[in-house]
Amino acid sequence: MINTNNLINPISSNKLNTNEINFFSGIPDLYFDDQNPLTLKQSEFYDNVKFPNFDDIEDFGTLLGKSLNSIFVSKIDNEIPYHSEILEAGCGTGQLSIALSRYNRRIHSIDLSKGSLIEGKQFIDKNEIKNVQFYRMNIFNLCFPNNYFDIIISNGVLHHTYNPELAFNKLSEKLKPGGIIIIGLYHKYGRIVQNIKQFFIKIFGEKLKFIDKRFSDTVSEKKLYAWFKDQYYNPHESKHSFSEVIKWFKKNHIEFINSIPFNFNFNDKIFDKKPIPNKNKLFLKEISLMFDRSQIYEGGFFVMIGKKS
Ligand SMILES: C[S@@+](CC[C@H](N)C(=O)[O-])C[C@H]1O[C@@H](n2cnc3c(N)ncnc32)[C@H](O)[C@@H]1O
Repeated sequence: MINTNNLINPISSNKLNTNEINFFSGIPDLYFDDQNPLTLKQSEFYDNVKFPNFDDIEDFGTLLGKSLNSIFVSKIDNEIPYHSEILEAGCGTGQLSIALSRYNRRIHSIDLSKGSLIEGKQFIDKNEIKNVQFYRMNIFNLCFPNNYFDIIISNGVLHHTYNPELAFNKLSEKLKPGGIIIIGLYHKYGRIVQNIKQFFIKIFGEKLKFIDKRFSDTVSEKKLYAWFKDQYYNPHESKHSFSEVIKWFKKNHIEFINSIPFNFNFNDKIFDKKPIPNKNKLFLKEISLMFDRSQIYEGGFFVMIGKKS
């Protein structure tokens, strides 16, 4: 499914030829360094912490069933058009990409972590899924042409990079005019409770892990290990706000469409345009995330959706 004629060397901007591409476990390694030590640190970290975990997911049906339990996933799956060309940046083990792979969509899934990509590739091979293509690639050095994708998704990734705004700019370049970008980030206030837990767990270690409600869930040890490492031992994270992302949108000619939880309404389509809340309302809503139980459980997360003009 890879059309090598379309891939470019991000350093020289020349087309890549097949001889330049190395493969590991059948996955093209198109990693180009960005001179920032954090990128390789994250690559090593997620090589060990494969996120999200496939532990109790045997086949495509189980993965789809579990994924569609999430309102977010089921809504985007309903609304992303047939035949869309999709980029998932920072796909981890690729579960979201695989869940969206019906309806003849073509999914290009990139990550730094060889270990996570190999798990995703083994799953698609076993389940004979042909329209998801994994690549090892760095968001800061993307090998795709500009204005190429109908949909770009990057969930829980940019806040682990050395420069989330630059990473967002790089992704926006690859979006077609009229295309949709979906970004999930840690929230400035929504994550405060998680930061307090991080503080105590750093001091007292794993014996305090019961303060994280996830540890009362009945999930596998491997899943808990991935969550624990990702939340408490990640080499780097940053936190963001609605208005900050609106500024990134404006600089990249992205029109605001919707956000979770700020404008989200269960009964509406997720890609239907919503107004930007006024400043006072937004401030109260952002502050209230500190006390929101689902935010605390999810680790303080928000999603912004925009459309390129
Ligand atoms: C918390 S995991 C999220 C995985 C998946 N998106 C999810 O929602 O479960 C963050 C992922 O971002 C990847 N990542 C971090 N920096 C990256 C970069 N510069 N380029 C590509 N992927 C990156 C990591 O390797 C890791 O798999």
